[in-house]
Amino acid sequence: MSGPLVFAHRGSSADLPEHTLAAYLRALDEGADGLECDVRLTRDGHLVCLHDRRLDRTSNGRGRVSAYTLAELEALDFGSWHPGCAPPDPDEPVDPTRTRLLTLERLLDAVRAAGRPVRLLIETKHPTRHGAGVERRLVELLRRYGLAEPRPDDPVRVVVMSFAPLAIRRIRELAPALETVLLLEVLPAWLRAGRLPFGVRIAGPGVALVRARPQLIPALRAAGHQVYVWTVNEPADLDLVLAAEVDGIITDRPALALAHCGRP
Ligand code: G3P
Ligand code: CA
Repeated sequence: MSGPLVFAHRGSSADLPEHTLAAYLRALDEGADGLECDVRLTRDGHLVCLHDRRLDRTSNGRGRVSAYTLAELEALDFGSWHPGCAPPDPDEPVDPTRTRLLTLERLLDAVRAAGRPVRLLIETKHPTRHGAGVERRLVELLRRYGLAEPRPDDPVRVVVMSFAPLAIRRIRELAPALETVLLLEVLPAWLRAGRLPFGVRIAGPGVALVRARPQLIPALRAAGHQVYVWTVNEPADLDLVLAAEVDGIITDRPALALAHCGRP
């Protein structure tokens, strides 16, 4: 395959509720090379796939994710708010894969069951609030799935991402063989000549930063880094990043991005 890898951001989240199993299965059906998810810790130490610190935007719950146990979160509805979740026939029940909380374990099971190469980009949220808890739990879980020390013949490949250099450093210490992405929303003063710290090989700038700094991608590539850009949803932005020869496109619309890349 030539051209960039296409990653589904929170699943096919333009069409289905973000971070639900249904959104990820749709992305795999559409042919995405990989999936992106955010992870947070519950009160009792489970990793769940949720972006926001609070439950309010994406569920019928209220308050902080970290204030609830996994069992309490399992009782909430994480999808009925989304237009793509409306059942076609009012007599038909809503598909639970569209409304149920997704744990990272369930997502790893789905990726393992895909039966083809899949890359999973896992973003740890707010590492400093939990000490090294999120990263430690993540590496433990990945180890259980045989994914913390990647084997070349394993069709599943995990990459850990964060905006926090501290989180990346912890991952590099806990599991040096894991690939990492340092996410960039603004241009940090320390990014001299496009070089990333801690041996990180992949840079993850936001598309707004790429638009504002056209020289950023060439500089990162010249420094030997791969570049994955998020969240690229519009045709003009897809043109921009394709012209810059990025290595990865992270998008809410994987089918559109794949078509844009000339992949059926
Ligand atoms: O893929 C990186 C991107 O997800 C970072 O931003 O806020 O969507 O997690 P956010
Ligand atoms: Ca994310």
